[in-house]
Order: sequence, then C-alpha cells, then structure tokens
Amino acid sequence: RPKLSQYNTIDDAVKLLQEAKNIIVLTGAGISTSLGIPDFRSKDTGLYSKLAHLGLSDPQEVFDIHIFREDPRIFFSIAKDILPTEKKYSPTHGFIKLLQDKGKLLTNYTQNIDNIEANAGVRAEKMVQCHGSFATATCVKCNFKVPGDAIFDDIREGKVPECSACVESIATLKPQGLKRKRSSTGNQKDRKEFEDSSDEDDYEIPTPGVMKPDITFFGEDLPDEFGQRLVHHDRELADLVIVIGTSLKVAPVAEVPGILPRNVPQIYISRTPVSHTDFDIDLLGDSDVVVSELCRRAGWNLEHHMIPAD
Ligand code: OAD
Repeated sequence: RPKLSQYNTIDDAVKLLQEAKNIIVLTGAGISTSLGIPDFRSKDTGLYSKLAHLGLSDPQEVFDIHIFREDPRIFFSIAKDILPTEKKYSPTHGFIKLLQDKGKLLTNYTQNIDNIEANAGVRAEKMVQCHGSFATATCVKCNFKVPGDAIFDDIREGKVPECSACVESIATLKPQGLKRKRSSTGNQKDRKEFEDSSDEDDYEIPTPGVMKPDITFFGEDLPDEFGQRLVHHDRELADLVIVIGTSLKVAPVAEVPGILPRNVPQIYISRTPVSHTDFDIDLLGDSDVVVSELCRRAGWNLEHHMIPAD
C-alpha cells in the first residue's frame, strides 16, 4: 500500500482524529503492558522470551491447537500468566473509550484476550475480539460451554480443568454403556465368563474432556464476526485507521491494513516500528504517552476517561 504523502506529522494525526467520524482502532498486547501484562514478542520481557523451560521448538506452540490436543498441560502451565485479573485499564484503553464517547469509534479490533477494553467501558458492540477471550470456555470433547471464570481457580493453580458435564455423564454410565477392553474369543465357556464378568478393570472408562478457554489458537479459525464485519460493513465506512501496540506478525489480523481502501489514512502507534507495512504516520513510543499527547493537542480530556470503573 503506497503512503498518502499529505500526512506526516503528529499535528496531521491530530487533525485526522478531529475530522474522522468512523475510526477503526486495531490493537495488540502493547496497550496492556503498562498494566504489568507482558506482550508476546518483546525481547526479554515478552511472554515468548520466557518459555525456554518448556522445551518447545517455537514458543508460539503454547497456543497451537494440535499441541493443546496432544498435551493441554503445556498451555495450562503458563495460562495463569495471561489470565485477566483486576478491573484496571491503561490510558490507551481510556483513549479508545474516549473515541467511542465522541461517536468516532467504528470498531475496535483487538487481538487481546484480556477483555480489558470492557473495564474501560468500551461497549461489546464496538469490539471484535479477533482472538477470542477468557470470557467463556468450551469442552474439547462435548462442546459444553461455561463462563470463563468457572475455570479460573484451576488455571491459577496450573491445573488442567475438566468438563463437569463429561464427569457427570461418565458417573451415570451403566456398565452396558461402556466399551470392553477385550472381546470374547467366541468359545462358549470363555464367552460365558466374559459376559458374567463385572470386573471394573475390564471396561474402558472414558475420560472427561478438557475445558479450553475460548481464545483462538494457532490452527483455529477466527470468530466469523471478524471477516464479516470488516469486509461487509467497516471497509466501506472507515475514514481513519489507528493501529496500536501490535507487531502485526499474526495473520489474518496483520492483513487488515492492506484490506482497507487506499485512501483511508493509517496511523501506527507502538514502541517498535514495523517494516512489512507502510503507515502514513508512525508515532513511535509508549502508547499511553502518545495518545495522551494526541488528546492534549486535540484539546480532549483523556484524564476524565482514566477514572477507574467500579
Ligand atoms: P506482540 O508482542 O507481537 O507485539 C506487541 C507490540 O507492542 C510490539 O511491537 C511492542 O514493541 C509494542 N509495545 C509493547 N509495549 C508497548 C507500549 N507500552 N506502548 C507501545 N507499544 C508497546 O503482540 P501482538 O501483536 O498483540 O495470539 O501479538 C499478536 C498475537 O500473537 C497475539 O494475539 C497472540 C500472539 O501469539 C494468540 O495468542 C492467538
């Protein structure tokens, strides 16, 4: 995508913000790091730099659905580190809420699974959680769904949460419903012995399914709403794109800037520049500092949006 040459400076960004009516804000882990939540790819501080002890060939495998199915303990050994905790939010989350209050927020596409936007008061209908969230969890075996916090205690203890619906149905299983481990030889005596036997060891007792938080793992599809809303609704309406705190390394979210019409200006706010996509204005630095300065220049009161929600 070629750059739009008329936009360059921070004051151009301020003017765009003031004039825009339908802003797409695309966010990543960088907007929560000031709250003490690690991002993924920052050298030394990112989650992936801390996973050497798991012995994976690539730390991203902790979010790989195939690996999860094979051994969910790997994910649950680190899940507590990314579990949302208190009801706090950063000035950058406050900035997104401010855009909403000014009637300028078209959609916040977030890759974050911490659900912190809700703490700031960003409304659910203004959000697409592209990589899902911890708000709900689903059994990998029977698809039973529970509110996410039902498994938070297990996650905090590093345990693999079991499906309560599976546990219940296994408890009520009659021996007739169970699979035998061996079959009779067909010989009459042996068959009689086989049929009379009620030895528990003789049956294959099914194991309950594992509850997986409804976050999108590598190898899983994004929620339908992501593509639907972007392509069939927002693409036509957007008049400004602000990308904040993401390395844009993960498809398909990384492709969003390229999918939007070329005449829609795009601003990038992050500590680290990206080389694979050209933005019209790069505002490099801590996102909380950058959005505060944008608001100051625009004459907007971000402070007001920083009073923590109850
Ligand atoms: P990354 O860790 O890849 O990128 C975070 C970006 O934010 C980096 O460019 C940092 O330099 C920048 N950053 C960190 N703190 C910042 C701050 N205070 N102010 C400004 N910038 C800051 O995280 P994401 O791009 O969000 O997927 O990662 C995308 C996806 O990869 C995640 O959703 C996750 C991960 O694998 C899944 O878990 C499925």
